[in-house]
Amino acid sequence: MIAGNWKMNPVATDFEPLTRAISEGVQDLAPQSEVLLFPPALYISKMLKLTNNNVHLSVGGQNCHHEPKGAFTGELAPQMLVGIGAKHVILGHSERRKYFGESNEFLKSKVDAAIEAGLTAIYCCGESLDDRDANQQQSVVEEQITKALLQLSSEQFTQIVIAYEPVWAIGTGRTASPEQAQEMHRFIRALLAEKIDTRTADACRILYGGSMKPSNAIDLLAQPDVDGGLIGGASLKAADFCEIVKAAG
Ligand code: PGA
Repeated sequence: MIAGNWKMNPVATDFEPLTRAISEGVQDLAPQSEVLLFPPALYISKMLKLTNNNVHLSVGGQNCHHEPKGAFTGELAPQMLVGIGAKHVILGHSERRKYFGESNEFLKSKVDAAIEAGLTAIYCCGESLDDRDANQQQSVVEEQITKALLQLSSEQFTQIVIAYEPVWAIGTGRTASPEQAQEMHRFIRALLAEKIDTRTADACRILYGGSMKPSNAIDLLAQPDVDGGLIGGASLKAADFCEIVKAAG
């Protein structure tokens, strides 16, 4: 699974050519390949129309609120995403945590609401550079997962994809080494096995995110516990994104 997080990009004039180029570039993939695109929410419907015939491609939202409706200016309910054809939603991205103060407890309510609405949540976790320098990366990630995801049943967990995104690697050009990524992905899978069950742990897809690009994708994706990537900057360049998708096989 390769997911492109477009964040608050691209500018309107680039939207259509970029969507078309990616859709054309990811036509002939292996049947199990899944490509997800997360444009700004106001482009979701248009993107679904443009990519209509592409069986590999799904479109999702970058965020949602936990209430189904109400006085929450500027927010989007999970049911609204479902209503326009979105299948996935990103929750807990480090930019949401940092700039919008989203805590693990708050994210738990969003996860529950997204699952209830029928969305698959791409739940992001990852440590800061200070955490890693203090060798706290595993306890930080454990807390992020424990507080927001472990209330879910194994059945509900089939609607969860975890994205490990070390904050120090996002948009910095600095990538976790394949060994660092594998170590954390294995830790996450072992945590799920211990706290839920091995079937859930084995089935849960764990994506790596943080400056993934064509030059490092093959080695990262070759790690046994890395099941795909969540791509920011490189998903705004069709050729790079498609190359990463192909590297995922
Ligand atoms: P990046 O972003 O690939 O630009 O580092 C990843 C992300 O924020 O999901």
